[in-house]
Amino acid sequence: MNSSRSLMEALLCEKLGDPVVPITSPASPITLAKTHPIPSLTSPTSVRVRVHATSLNYANYLQILGKYQEKPPLPFIPGSDYSGVVEAVGEAVSRFKVGDRVCSVAGLGSFAEFIVDDEKDLLLVPEGCDLLAAGALPVAFGTSHVALVHRAQLKVGQVLLVLGAAGGVGLSAVQIGKVCGAVVIAVARGAEKVQLLESLGVDHVVDLSKGNVIESVKKFLKMRNLKGVDVLYDPVGGKLTKESLKLLNWGASILVIGFASGEVPVIPANIALVKNWTIHGLYWGSHKIHQPHVLEDSLKELLSWLSKGLIKVHISHKYSLHEANLAFTAIKERKAIGKVMIVVEKSSGARAKL
Ligand SMILES: NC(=O)c1ccc[n+]([C@@H]2O[C@H](COP(=O)([O-])OP(=O)(O)OC[C@H]3O[C@@H](n4cnc5c(N)ncnc54)[C@H](OP(=O)(O)O)[C@@H]3O)[C@@H](O)[C@H]2O)c1
Repeated sequence: MNSSRSLMEALLCEKLGDPVVPITSPASPITLAKTHPIPSLTSPTSVRVRVHATSLNYANYLQILGKYQEKPPLPFIPGSDYSGVVEAVGEAVSRFKVGDRVCSVAGLGSFAEFIVDDEKDLLLVPEGCDLLAAGALPVAFGTSHVALVHRAQLKVGQVLLVLGAAGGVGLSAVQIGKVCGAVVIAVARGAEKVQLLESLGVDHVVDLSKGNVIESVKKFLKMRNLKGVDVLYDPVGGKLTKESLKLLNWGASILVIGFASGEVPVIPANIALVKNWTIHGLYWGSHKIHQPHVLEDSLKELLSWLSKGLIKVHISHKYSLHEANLAFTAIKERKAIGKVMIVVEKSSGARAKL
């Protein structure tokens, strides 16, 4: 079942810039290469996967803009988490065979028909798990799981406040919070996002388009006889962080996840001292180098939760490779609710939705 072809389609970032213009436009930093070489197996333990679906994360967008902490040399194939089917294996591969359904996170390269990864970086997608959902899971749910379960050690009855709660990482944090038995407060903008969050059993949703965060959360806490927030999950930063700090309990944990607002917040050390706060900077991807077992255990647990229906991956937009600019537009214009996906397999019939 090895690929008899030697060339594939892949999205190439050839210069830095905003990838929201049509990829056929000369202004586009990305192009669809139709005759890119299919990557060869690079070691006896490497595995080639035919990509089924790959996820768009805010970081992928920032990387093409040249604003992400990791700046690969040009040209590069963007992409990080993906799912697919094993197409070829190196001679020493023991855990996978051709035809297995897998998912993984690569440093780069998943916006293509094929990708090569080492077997240690692949996970088997369990029976009953949708392959598209498995491709959306690693970065978003992985980040929130490591942050909430491993770092903050979120406990039953604690109050969790999630900012950017309808975005990729936010929506996963909300669901993991519920699985952990926390009282979950979600902050998002607009009726559609609020409706989805409520349908997930979130205890209180603040609609930023309507009200003030502090006022709304304080009212809810009072009604439930709760003192304040124990864990703040923050992928947004800026003014919203500053306001949220006013809601934190003594001994609270702050999870610094990202800066979707474009503004890095200042967390005053004097207040952290007086209030005994713990500030966790969390860069999920770096666990692959420093604590790979934490990442692997976390993803295995998430895949099992997914197959049991404890968590659900919400995909608001699906595109094909040549519609990648629309996928980046959905992220840029804050239209994504949950995940935006690129479905790579030609047979998938992916349709634009914006
Ligand atoms: N630390 C890590 O390892 C890690 C891992 C994954 C992601 N991240 C970071 O987490 C952040 C969110 O990632 P994501 O994939 O969840 O992104 P996303 O799906 O685009 O969600 C971001 C959310 O932030 C809110 N937001 C507030 N101000 C915004 C602004 N000015 N522009 C855009 N969004 C704004 C939006 O919610 P409303 O419109 O409802 O306000 C949006 O739903 C990014 O900074 C990303 O780099 C970090």
